[in-house]
Amino acid sequence: MIPPLYILRLFTVLSFLPKPFVYAWINYPPDGTATMTHYDLPKDYIAACGCTGKSTHYPTAALNQMAYGSSQNYGPGCGKCFKLTLLNSYTASPPFFPSTHPSIVIKVTDLCPLSENGWCSATENKTNPSGQYLNFDLAYPSSAISNNFFPSDEKLYGYKDFGVWNITYALVSCEEWKGWGDAAAKGSAPNINGCCPANSTGSQQDTCPSYSDGYRIPPDTTTSDAQSLWPPALFSIPFVVFAMLSSHSLFS
Ligand SMILES: *[C@@H]1O[C@H](CO)[C@@H](O)[C@H](O)[C@H]1NC(C)=O
Ligand SMILES: *[C@@H]1O[C@H](CO)[C@@H](O)[C@H](O)[C@H]1NC(C)=O
Ligand SMILES: *[C@@H]1O[C@H](CO)[C@@H](O)[C@H](O)[C@H]1NC(C)=O
Repeated sequence: MIPPLYILRLFTVLSFLPKPFVYAWINYPPDGTATMTHYDLPKDYIAACGCTGKSTHYPTAALNQMAYGSSQNYGPGCGKCFKLTLLNSYTASPPFFPSTHPSIVIKVTDLCPLSENGWCSATENKTNPSGQYLNFDLAYPSSAISNNFFPSDEKLYGYKDFGVWNITYALVSCEEWKGWGDAAAKGSAPNINGCCPANSTGSQQDTCPSYSDGYRIPPDTTTSDAQSLWPPALFSIPFVVFAMLSSHSLFS
């Protein structure tokens, strides 16, 4: 029995479709070592997660794509708060071992896209050039962070900015984030279908799904208190493409 021609055609077409790339996101422990870079995020800018512009008035960072959990828009990393502590920097010669180890609590509001070899290049099977799976790209300079935050020794090196630091990170409650007391800095901006929990604990109710895994409808985090609704009312939330929000400039 010869199958009807259209079935053959369909089969042919399907077998030539490119195989979808299956993302294997990086599963990281709640604390460990990482690298830190910094990037320019304009004040009041709404970055990839869709967190309110006011979030930029407090310390924020972009997380490398494979740990962030999405290749565009929001992902499980959105809204999480981490305490980051500077260790040292080997980018200079000799390496710089500061006498102080300042910490900062940041909220993840942006995505640092996967690249071949850059600081955000780690995948589950490959670390970044510093042997780390996580890179936090701090929004800096920022009105929320002292210009003297990074230790330096300008006399010895002739410059102050080492660009890349070895750090330790620890997942913390967003109650420790400086923006916690400012309702307008928490949650996602209105009318953009972003996802920015005020305090993501890892439970489905307050953790963003991965936009690029096809979960296009996030929990509703639009109120300033970022109350979430899960499951969402599937047919009442308009699907809005906001690829333009996948901002991210550079990763040094
Ligand atoms: C981090 O420290 C290791 C040594 O422990 C060093 O090889 C690496 O270059 C350092 N990375 C940065 C970004 O300073
Ligand atoms: C990464 O490692 C896992 C487990 O060893 C393996 O199943 C997977 O195919 C690897 N992915 C790539 C892109 O090499
Ligand atoms: C915020 O999340 C942390 C877990 O990271 C939890 O211990 C804390 O109770 C939460 N706070 C609020 C106000 O939900």
